[in-house]
Amino acid sequence: MDKLAINGGPKAKPTPFHMPNRYGEEELAMLREVVESGRLMGPGGKVREFEEQVAKFFGGGHVVMVTSGTTALNTGLAALGVSEGDEVITTPMTDIGTVAAILMLHAVPIFADIDLETRLISPSSVRERITERTKAIITVHMAGLPCDMDEFLRISDDTGVRILEDCAQAHGGKYKGRYLGTIGHASGFSMNESKQMSCGDGGFVMTNDEDTARVATLFHDKTYQRDPSIPRGQEPIPFFGMNYRPSGLQAAVGLAQLNKLPFVVSRRDAIVKRYYEELSDLPHLDLPAICDGGEPSWWPLASRYTGEIPDRSELVAAMRAEGVTMSTGMSPSNNILRTELISRKRFYALTDKVPSFWQDTVYDPDSCPNVDELQRTVMRLPVDQRYTDEDIDQTILAMRKVWQHFFGNA
Ligand SMILES: Cc1ncc(COP(=O)(O)O)c(C=O)c1O
Repeated sequence: MDKLAINGGPKAKPTPFHMPNRYGEEELAMLREVVESGRLMGPGGKVREFEEQVAKFFGGGHVVMVTSGTTALNTGLAALGVSEGDEVITTPMTDIGTVAAILMLHAVPIFADIDLETRLISPSSVRERITERTKAIITVHMAGLPCDMDEFLRISDDTGVRILEDCAQAHGGKYKGRYLGTIGHASGFSMNESKQMSCGDGGFVMTNDEDTARVATLFHDKTYQRDPSIPRGQEPIPFFGMNYRPSGLQAAVGLAQLNKLPFVVSRRDAIVKRYYEELSDLPHLDLPAICDGGEPSWWPLASRYTGEIPDRSELVAAMRAEGVTMSTGMSPSNNILRTELISRKRFYALTDKVPSFWQDTVYDPDSCPNVDELQRTVMRLPVDQRYTDEDIDQTILAMRKVWQHFFGNA
């Protein structure tokens, strides 16, 4: 095997990953349609068309398009009846948007640990944290890996707690033949640019329940009914709602991206299958376990380095020198229990004042050790539908080269 690139040898991956623009003629055609219609504002118009097409893709149900994944989760929780002082259990290994969605309702985020093998929120840890105040659980299908939804539905049946699926990273993934996002009581998706489908920024809420859909529709649009038969001045305003309306421009791009989703999911699956087939024999490399019946919608593959010597940073530096960037964080904020927001309950930017709904909550920063362990050991392998077969050949070659250098022949 060649000398490592970090020691002056040739790179295993001499050319950059193939990353052409993910937007093209399809998006432009949809944008042209909406611009020419003279109506950019939702609801209705292109936004309605997007909601109908998404519902059709997922096999029915109700869809409300919103401005982000965070506002989708916020709207979903509001529509499930979460209110001030309720506890909502989720994982501290997620995007901070999951937690912001809870706090916006003056509800209390409670953190359950993950299973190290699946990388996902652990049903048994969730059970341990249920109290009489628990109103909802947010199952985060992190990195596109499906949570074991039968276990969570069982918890819901036993306790009456509602399930909101965080599908921000899981578009098109399945569990026992059903799309993620159609299994819990409601779900929230993100369409920011890092996602399997993107409209720059955007999101949507999905539910099979008509009442939940009705509240979500009202909540995301300041509770306006948008009913032309209601005379101006007589809008009822039945409760508090935000303005989370996306524009028709976002919906237009979202529609074009929806059509590309099946390709995105299947191409990513083909790439990750190669990683499993061609890297599973490497020592000290742990690839995520997939729950029974799970069909992930892959995201950068959350592999773990389980050795101690060399240090993970040495392997990552060697991989980077070979031309393959591996990231060592699951999300921007790693363990959310250790953020200032949670550890100091810093709700406001400019004052230390803790709002009354949050005053009694005590967080133990060490209460989710598997999250810390995952963050300490994770090395994410690159996954994107745009990569060529050669990109993957070279990535696998780089892994095997670096591993052979440090660990000899497996
Ligand atoms: C798991 C998860 N939940 C929630 C969000 C929030 O989505 P957005 O950034 O669209 O608000 C994200 C996005 O980064 C995410 O990855």
